[in-house]
Amino acid sequence: MIKVNAPYITEDEIKAVVEVLRSGQLAHGPVVGEFERAFSEYLGVPYTVAVSNGTVALYLALKALGVGDGDEVIVPDFTFIATASMVVAAGAKPVFADIDLRTYTIDPEDVKKKISERTKAIIVVHLYGHPANMEELIDITREYNIYLIEDCAQSHGAEFKGAKTGTFGDVATFSFYATKNLTMGEGGAVVTKNKEIAEKVMLLRNHGQVSRYYHTIIGWNFRLTSIQAALGLQQLRKLDKMNSRRREIANTYLEKLQDIADIVLPAEMPWAKHVYHQFTIWVKKSGLRSKLMEYLKSKGIQTAVHYPRPLHLQPALSEFSHKSDLCPNSTEASKHVLSLPMHPGLTDEEIHYVAKTVREFFSLIR
Ligand SMILES: Cc1ncc(COP(=O)(O)O)c(C=O)c1O
Repeated sequence: MIKVNAPYITEDEIKAVVEVLRSGQLAHGPVVGEFERAFSEYLGVPYTVAVSNGTVALYLALKALGVGDGDEVIVPDFTFIATASMVVAAGAKPVFADIDLRTYTIDPEDVKKKISERTKAIIVVHLYGHPANMEELIDITREYNIYLIEDCAQSHGAEFKGAKTGTFGDVATFSFYATKNLTMGEGGAVVTKNKEIAEKVMLLRNHGQVSRYYHTIIGWNFRLTSIQAALGLQQLRKLDKMNSRRREIANTYLEKLQDIADIVLPAEMPWAKHVYHQFTIWVKKSGLRSKLMEYLKSKGIQTAVHYPRPLHLQPALSEFSHKSDLCPNSTEASKHVLSLPMHPGLTDEEIHYVAKTVREFFSLIR
């Protein structure tokens, strides 16, 4: 089966992890600091605080900004649930904004409509690896004096007008989950230019401990292990190369699938560098999507729907969705999108086979 997403692991990662295992220092050792410095340098942002995963990275970012009871945070309606659920965990209310269907990222015009006196922050998600329109979003946050959080779980190395995602917000969060563009199996980071925010996150990640067994605030154990950091360091060294391979694969798909009238291919805005965390097509007739999935599966090709349900229709978030929260683009997207196999380990043969099989399906249904 050709997998829709998969980690790209070579001997470098295996050696680095084994080295940590032999060192005996498995928990939060010096290699975590090494990863944090390297990741900061890669982004050009002074502070990276490595944490257990992208979910707690969001939680800590919100906590460090003082988001809590009575606050509202605007989130895209079309994303993984953690973007909104961590707002709830922090004690605030998520307010869902619709997406722009060219990029599948939050629509600045709808954000403006959702701002209230209680709005404390906006979380922007660079979905599928395509950056959101940061200029417009930064203007909004300045005009209304609210915080900007970037959820970069899917956008390691993506760029808006030549600057990397994660460098625009008051704070940015990353996930290093197994299938992300940079993986540690599980892992995450909070990135910021602000020293106070970085220090707060560092404290919260480690039980509010300022010196051994001396705790100034209540925190948690959201630390990253040395095993994860060693894996991440090796991945970081080849992130640009892996992203280039993703772009190469995307270009092949774009070329081979361009004339199929039944689908819309992903776009790359003139101001964007897309890193194709996912290669997600739009199947015009929503009823055909599951048939295409089934057909590809029968030919040994796995696909996935990111995401089959908009957040405002998630039972877990129902108490936060009102009629005015209805997001038509997001709701439509959930019925039409389909992600094709995309990961750096795909061979040219596999990519051509996927494209050929997609074409075959649409010629058969004619
Ligand atoms: C947009 C987005 N935000 C947050 C997360 C949460 O990251 P993690 O799975 O590392 O907790 C993910 C990961 O799936 C994601 O895709």
